[in-house]
Amino acid sequence: MGSSWKMTSSLILCLSIFAFFSPSSPSRILPPSDSQKVSVGLYYESLCPYSANFIVNYLVKLFEDDLISIVDLKLVPWGNAKLRANNTFACQHGRYECLLNTVEACAIDVWPGLDGHFPFIYCVEALVLEHKYPEWESCFQKLDLDPKPIEKCYTSKYGEELELKYAAETNALQPPHKYVPWVVVDGEPLYEDYENFISYICKAYKGTNIPKSCSQVSLDTIQMVDAKPKHSVCDNESGIPNLWELLRSTVASWITRMNMAGAI
Ligand SMILES: *[C@@H]1O[C@H](CO)[C@@H](O)[C@H](O)[C@H]1NC(C)=O
Ligand SMILES: *[C@@H]1O[C@H](CO)[C@@H](O)[C@H](O)[C@H]1NC(C)=O
Repeated sequence: MGSSWKMTSSLILCLSIFAFFSPSSPSRILPPSDSQKVSVGLYYESLCPYSANFIVNYLVKLFEDDLISIVDLKLVPWGNAKLRANNTFACQHGRYECLLNTVEACAIDVWPGLDGHFPFIYCVEALVLEHKYPEWESCFQKLDLDPKPIEKCYTSKYGEELELKYAAETNALQPPHKYVPWVVVDGEPLYEDYENFISYICKAYKGTNIPKSCSQVSLDTIQMVDAKPKHSVCDNESGIPNLWELLRSTVASWITRMNMAGAI
């Protein structure tokens, strides 16, 4: 009886000490609140090799340590696709890109948590980097995911609706995007410095749960800036007009040859 009373009273004492000290150091006990998180938006398209490279070799670093705990990450798979007047769309790298953009939009909708859709998108984009993206459906088996909700989303036209939503979000960007990957941290685009996104996240974070990886950032930044050649992007306007250019010049040289052949 006596010892249990002692235990109870020391428990009460501990709790009151805890209650006394915790308001002064809430960050040690609570995870960062959503308002403290740094918003990160990735505007991309599935077949741009630089988008794929960013997702597979850079963005994934958020999950390798505790950085994701201070980040509110949003993926927007539309990129440089163009909306036609009748609400159909054309993608920079052709129809396969429209398919994979839509499939990735469906994945975000079907598995809304990052731990659900990010591994799938990572898997598809890793195949893009290896030029094996027609094998994208192997990602369902690899990750033990059910393909049915994605199939249903894609074939029911709901996937297209999701893409139209992403088109509207991309086209509303201020300043407008010029290329992909277009990385926006705390509302500010990083332009071609996007590979240094972690140092921007660390700088933007105002909370007190500073991740360990933020302390190594300045060193990484210097090395990365020096080592990387610039202009690793897919331009906004180049894709489709370039195809037209190619077609036009092919036809022009063809006509020239026919004329020459006619002349001979
Ligand atoms: C939408 O417009 C494009 C040309 O801008 C046309 O090729 C396509 O067939 C149209 N699609 C539908 C469903 O009307
Ligand atoms: C990029 O694309 C958007 C939407 O398709 C367009 O509104 C914008 O003017 C383009 N920006 C540039 C710099 O070409």
